[in-house]
Amino acid sequence: MNGKKKEKAKVLSQKMIAPDIYDLWLESSLAETAGCGQFVGVYPKNGAMLLPRPISICQVKKSGDMAEGCEALKEPGISALRLVYRIAGKGTAEFSSLKEGDEVELLGVLGNGFPVEGSKGKKVVLMGGGIGIPPMLQLAKELKASGNEAVIILGYRDNRLFLKEDLEQYGKVVIATEDGSVGTKGNVLTAVKEEGIEADVIMACGPMPMLRAIKAYAEEKEIEAFISLEERMACGVGACLGCVCKTTKKDHHSHVNNARICTDGPVFDAREVDI
Ligand code: FES
Repeated sequence: MNGKKKEKAKVLSQKMIAPDIYDLWLESSLAETAGCGQFVGVYPKNGAMLLPRPISICQVKKSGDMAEGCEALKEPGISALRLVYRIAGKGTAEFSSLKEGDEVELLGVLGNGFPVEGSKGKKVVLMGGGIGIPPMLQLAKELKASGNEAVIILGYRDNRLFLKEDLEQYGKVVIATEDGSVGTKGNVLTAVKEEGIEADVIMACGPMPMLRAIKAYAEEKEIEAFISLEERMACGVGACLGCVCKTTKKDHHSHVNNARICTDGPVFDAREVDI
C-alpha cells in the first residue's frame, strides 16, 4: 500500500448532483498515488469532530492526465481528486458547504482497491448501488485503460441518474431503478437476470443487502467477486473498530478471523468475508 499522508487540499468546484449527493473536485497531490476503490479521510473543521470522514475516490486526475469534468482542471499539470458523497451526518453536512477556493484537510491515500491487473482477459461486470456508484467511475476508467471494457450495472432509487453519463464513456451501462422509472424495475441483480448478463468476475460497491445478494449469487454461479464494504466504515483509520467483520483468513497480529474493513479493505474477495 502507498504511504499515507495528511495534506491541505483546495476546493476546485462543488455541486449537488442529486438530493443530498455532492460532487466535489479537490486539488491534491494525493491523486498521484490514488487508484480505484481507495478512499481518503476528510477532516471536518469543527474541532469537536476529531476523526476524519472516509469518502471513496470517484475519479483521479494525475498531473499528466487530460483535463475532464471540471473547468479548474484545465490548468496544466494539476493533480486532483473527485469525491462524490452523500450527506450522512454532521461531518458530511459541513463538507457540502465547501466553496471554490476553500481548503480542507485530507488523509490519504487509504485502503486497498479493486484488482484491475488480475482481471486481464476476463469478462468484468461492475455493479454499483446508490452511493456505491461513485467508485465505479475510476474503476471503469482504469479497466478501459488496461484494455478491458466492463459492463456497468447501476442501481438507483429513481430517475435521478447521477454519474451515468460519466460512466458511459468507459463501458456499456445498464440501469435498474427501485421505482421502475428507468431501466429494469428492481436492483442490479434483477437487471443481470433480465438482460442475461454473464460475468467471469464481478466488482461491486453498494449497500450491505446488495453486497450480500451479490456474494450469494457469485457463490451459486461460481463467479469471482470483489466487493467494497465501505458503507460499514466510520473513522476510516483503524481507530474506532466500528468496521470489524468476520473473515475466513486469520489476522496475523491477533490470530482471530477478523478484519478491519478500513485497513484490510475496503475491497475484499467476497468468499473471504462473512457479511
Ligand atoms: Fe474505524 Fe475501521 S472505520 S476502525
